[in-house]
Amino acid sequence: MRHKALKGIQDILHPETFIWQRLEAIARGVFRAYGYSEIRLPIIESTEIFQRSIGETTDIVEKEMYTFTDKGGRSVTLRPEGTAPFVRAFVEHHLYNEPPPQKYYYMGPMFRYERPQSGRQRQFYQIGAEALGVEEPVIDAEVIAMLSVLLNRIGIKDIEFEVTSIGCSKCRPDYKNALKESLKEKLNLFCEDCKRRYEANPLRILDCKVKTCVDARQGSPSVTGFLCDDCKVHFNGVQHYLKLLNVHYVINPNLVRGLDYYTRTAFEVKSSLLGAQNAVAAGGRYGSLVEEFGGPGTPGIGFAIGVERIISLISEPSAGAKGPDIFLCSMGHGAEEKILVLAGQLRREGLWAEINYDKSSLRSQMRRADRMRAKTVIVVGEDELKKNTATIKDMQDKKEFKVPLEAEEILKIIKEK
Ligand code: HAM
Repeated sequence: MRHKALKGIQDILHPETFIWQRLEAIARGVFRAYGYSEIRLPIIESTEIFQRSIGETTDIVEKEMYTFTDKGGRSVTLRPEGTAPFVRAFVEHHLYNEPPPQKYYYMGPMFRYERPQSGRQRQFYQIGAEALGVEEPVIDAEVIAMLSVLLNRIGIKDIEFEVTSIGCSKCRPDYKNALKESLKEKLNLFCEDCKRRYEANPLRILDCKVKTCVDARQGSPSVTGFLCDDCKVHFNGVQHYLKLLNVHYVINPNLVRGLDYYTRTAFEVKSSLLGAQNAVAAGGRYGSLVEEFGGPGTPGIGFAIGVERIISLISEPSAGAKGPDIFLCSMGHGAEEKILVLAGQLRREGLWAEINYDKSSLRSQMRRADRMRAKTVIVVGEDELKKNTATIKDMQDKKEFKVPLEAEEILKIIKEK
């Protein structure tokens, strides 16, 4: 019986894995420069962690979580995002005792039971960063600037940073009331979910994707018009520092995030080259999440990049994928054994050395070397073995010459290249 990966869940194959590794290496380099340390978080957590933080009435919690009961009768969930598990770990390990800012990054798969389509998988990867312990707007700008540097270094073009402030617990009640007031007369036009959200969490109506709801909420007030003085000062500060750091952005007062934990700064990076799923990265500030998880009042801000979406923007993902440093061809039993030992010596020096494992002809070995894009080929036949020499061929310029059949000599030649 043949099996297939589950719907919306993909294998990532060579040579695409090459670009994943490159992207991860670039991210690690940028995070290091900004002083972020890696944290490796579990893929599975207790369900409550997500329900409370992401919000009971969000699409993620209501419809998209991979939740099941484990053999011990506990409700567990495959993480749909990284911020809640991060904050859980931050509090569990008392990371708040470190002097602020505490800066961490993570990489790995996330799971959301969404309808799969281009740019939307059920298992997808994020690279995320979180900075905690700083209330001042300078860190918001720096986090966004770091994201901009990272995307730039990966070579992503045609993107736009959209930034807004969604207020705090002080100003949001006024906005909620104004929003409810503006939607009151039109409530019958909304879907059943939105009718429920109207009482439970009216802000979530702004995130509903149903066409009639999108149309019906046109013209409703935006939160930026209701910011309290402290939020206004904070948002002005963020913009000041973004300009100072030369980050190009637009203010989108209608930006809505799909998670409830945000306060003040929220942002998304959108690509004009993607279709409906055009956000390549997104994030924002969360003022009370650490406290909600039982830690001391510690503000945080972060973002997550959608790795598959970024990869889809890289025009030739496999370009630059490397082939072996050296392919060792052999003819005859003695030569086979010689290159087996030789390959081991070269590999110990860190070279990617490939050999042949069957009795195929020299021609077919050369073909394999070519297909693998080997940079150099060495041929050892019975004759060469007797003279303790090998024929070495540069696969770029096709030049051939004889070398002593010694690992040190071969190494020297390859390193010189
Ligand atoms: P998010 O906006 O839910 O935020 O996800 C961040 C990014 O993950 C999106 O912009 C998108 O690129 C990618 N993404 C989300 N869902 C999918 C999917 N089904 N398929 C493919 N890619 C997807 C968060 O997750 C927050 N935790 C970000 C954050 C960190 N906020 C503060 N710190």
